[in-house]
Amino acid sequence: MNTETVIINDIENHEAQADFKRAGAVIKQGGLVAFPTETVYGLGGDALNPEASGKIYAAKGRPSDNPLIVHIAELDDLYRIVTEVKEEAVKLAEAFWPGPLTMIFPKADIVPLATTGGLETVAVRMPSNKIALEFIKASGGYIAAPSANLSGRPSPTSARHVADDLSGRIEMIIDGGPCTIGLESTIVDLTGDAPMILRPGYVSQKMLEDVVGEVAIDPAITGPVDENVHPKAPGMKYRHYAPKGLLTIVSGDSKAVTEYIKAHIEENHSKGKRVGVIAAQESLKEYVKADFCGNAGCINDEVEISSGLYGLLRECDERAIDVIYSEEFDTPQLGMAIMNRLMKAAGHTVVNV
Ligand code: TXA
Ligand code: MG
Repeated sequence: MNTETVIINDIENHEAQADFKRAGAVIKQGGLVAFPTETVYGLGGDALNPEASGKIYAAKGRPSDNPLIVHIAELDDLYRIVTEVKEEAVKLAEAFWPGPLTMIFPKADIVPLATTGGLETVAVRMPSNKIALEFIKASGGYIAAPSANLSGRPSPTSARHVADDLSGRIEMIIDGGPCTIGLESTIVDLTGDAPMILRPGYVSQKMLEDVVGEVAIDPAITGPVDENVHPKAPGMKYRHYAPKGLLTIVSGDSKAVTEYIKAHIEENHSKGKRVGVIAAQESLKEYVKADFCGNAGCINDEVEISSGLYGLLRECDERAIDVIYSEEFDTPQLGMAIMNRLMKAAGHTVVNV
């Protein structure tokens, strides 16, 4: 299959309008279009067409028990695909939609089980990216979209990342530039007694609690790794976001972290291994001997760190890095999401120095 890439800078533009029409036609015919959102690029198909959902799983090589998020562009459209909208959901939608928040609802019959991975619940999100909203509207209003990466790879935060993984497997890629947040949306389950975070993201526990009161966090994503405790979001159980190189997170006092990483650059070099380091801009100069110095950004700019993280993991692969050391990024709002993804990418390998 030939994958066409269209670049959209200005949605009002005449050509852009024609591109949205064509992308919408691809979706209505059951095809797949990758598109930008403020979190990561999504791989879109018609959420109400089971065959399209099947194609999404096939293109990504994704296990079919891992449900897809349905993306909408208008709040009214929510009521057609779910059977109950609690007051908490209304408040959260008012506060964070459009934006990087996904909520889980009981699904209406119109949503095929092929889209929800066989579950009777459905995850719904209204993204804030203007290109995403136009594309969803042009496609009939309901776009099922996982992150547009091959299963197991870091999520794509640019159109090039999407093309690297899915070129030849999908009909179209809409290139809308780099993603501003760079980590997948916060997922909140509203089908239980109290709201529960199933995946941390840009919208933090505190931001949610300011709107609806107490919000729990799925213990499987914060607690110690236990093979018998399964996360409630099926996708969170898979090894994910992982570069090919062996990643270790180094945690502790910043001076000790720097010393540890420097010593390990030397040690790995003596074994003939190529070493990458992911570090805050402030400490990067310490690691000049590494084969790849990944600048995560300023320690006080958490969105700079989150938006660049997956790109750095991919760059380690492109540079054939064997061993990667990352500093810890324990920032106030996004720290939990950043460390959740880094920990998964590292297979939970952390060294405390
Ligand atoms: O930011 C995002 O959410 C991006 C962009 C494209 O919108 N999408 C994304 O989709 O991250 P994906 O498929 O990579 O991750 C969806 C996650 C998976 O962990 C899945 O298990 C969970 O959402 N999920 C989907 N439906 C669910 C449901 N009904 N119950 C529990 N978890 C669900
Ligand atoms: Mg994903």
